[in-house]
Amino acid sequence: MPASPGGGTAVREQSGDAVNAGDPRALRASLGRFATGVTIMTAAGNGGGPVGLTANSFTSLSLDPPLILWSLRADSPSLFAFEVGAHFAVNVLADAQVDLSRRFASRVPDKFAEVAYAVNDSGVPLLHGAAAWFECRTESRQAAGDHVLFIGAVLRHSASEQEPLLFHSGHYRLLGGLL
Ligand SMILES: Cc1cc2nc3c(=O)[nH]c(=O)nc-3n(C[C@H](O)[C@H](O)[C@H](O)COP(=O)(O)O)c2cc1C
Repeated sequence: MPASPGGGTAVREQSGDAVNAGDPRALRASLGRFATGVTIMTAAGNGGGPVGLTANSFTSLSLDPPLILWSLRADSPSLFAFEVGAHFAVNVLADAQVDLSRRFASRVPDKFAEVAYAVNDSGVPLLHGAAAWFECRTESRQAAGDHVLFIGAVLRHSASEQEPLLFHSGHYRLLGGLL
């Protein structure tokens, strides 16, 4: 492998063999190398009770104005609630909330049964015990491949002292030590 023009190591020398992005399993495996936190996105629902799902597509987008983004599978039964509701919340999960993450990633009929939460002025659930909360108004949404991209304007937020839950290569993890 030749050295790159700048004298540094060529990128491919440190990487595995590149595969075509058309293979979803391989793409998922490479994407999974990006470690994230875990959130539960919640909305008021549309008369049928609150709605929520586990999501790690959440990321910060802008500080001024304060914006965040996340994406939801376009065929999700939860999509309607996030489309009709003007508000939603991001619940950043704490490391003690792995069971909650699994529950909200499942298809159980009532995800909120026996889950402790408060409801904000917009009727959006805020889950007890989270590491942080962002109460948002939907700024925009757009179809993007097999997902819908939501951008939220942050109206209110708060944080707790809880350590966050992490997700990496298909596994939940605890926060490690400082480098
Ligand atoms: C760690 C983790 C992260 C996830 N991130 C997302 C996500 O960002 N967007 C999404 O649509 N589904 C995501 N999912 C899958 C949903 O949580 C799962 O499909 C859930 O059943 C969706 O709820 P629904 O049946 O109401 O669509 C994730 C699952 C896990 C375990």
